[in-house]
Amino acid sequence: MLSDVSTADADHAMRNWSGEEPGQIEIGSEEHKRLFCRMLLDTHNPYKPAVIDWPKLEPEVLQRVTSLPIWDIAVQTEGRAQLRVAAYASMVSDPLLNETMIMDGGEEARHKVVLSKLVEAYGIPLTPEPEYLVPKDPEWGWLVTGYSECIDSFFGFGLFEAAKRTGFFPPELVETFEPVMQEEARHILFFANWLAWHRCQLPWYRRVAFELKALRVWAFLIWERIGIARGLDGNGEMQDANFTLTGHQQIGVNLKLSELLDLCLTEDQRRTEGYDKRLLRPTFMPRMARLARRFMR
Ligand SMILES: [Fe+2]
Ligand SMILES: [Fe+2]
Repeated sequence: MLSDVSTADADHAMRNWSGEEPGQIEIGSEEHKRLFCRMLLDTHNPYKPAVIDWPKLEPEVLQRVTSLPIWDIAVQTEGRAQLRVAAYASMVSDPLLNETMIMDGGEEARHKVVLSKLVEAYGIPLTPEPEYLVPKDPEWGWLVTGYSECIDSFFGFGLFEAAKRTGFFPPELVETFEPVMQEEARHILFFANWLAWHRCQLPWYRRVAFELKALRVWAFLIWERIGIARGLDGNGEMQDANFTLTGHQQIGVNLKLSELLDLCLTEDQRRTEGYDKRLLRPTFMPRMARLARRFMR
């Protein structure tokens, strides 16, 4: 009983947070940095993946879950994210920012452990993992991971909610995965604020170089998604990084794309609304979704 109460407390604490310093804050200021760093640090949920009790699934549910084409890409994405975040963190000299990014990378490492445990518990076959390489340019790696998370989480939130509503994922599994989803919401909130803050720290000539790099990252991410969608990886075995876009068909959810986008928008808002209102919210994906919605019924 006691542990139920403390789990509920930890859960509430990871979803709701406001900074202690009152008043307005200026984006790019020291106060802003403290706010987005403390948000991530203070809302860290200290669960231990090793003690997760994986629910026993009915044969039919087990079949559904294990045949989803997402497990390879999910494990590999977390493996890369962990390395990329840690690589960039090691270059950051600001103590608070460094501490926060180390914890962020630690959460990615934990996601990978959660997924590995799940894969093990349900006997999901995985292709051997590639060697994860430390990026030559850590800032590039950090931006790739940050922007990827903004794209994938946006769709992931909607799909997760759809799978929950339709019962595609049984409630026990939804409950087990819920903290991972919420952690990604915190990560993208942190990333969006870090981006805005970081831009303010750069003199104009470095700012120009930074914006060019960000554009190259976007080009890379689009290429990566189109490439994987078309199976250009050479062996045709790479599973679907584009799952975020096609996933609603694969999880058997009978939703129109417009309905899915609406669900993504609501969920995106719901997952970030509990945090300090002075923090910026990631806006790119919601804007794109709203734009796309205008051309749909
Ligand atoms: Fe993650
Ligand atoms: Fe993340």
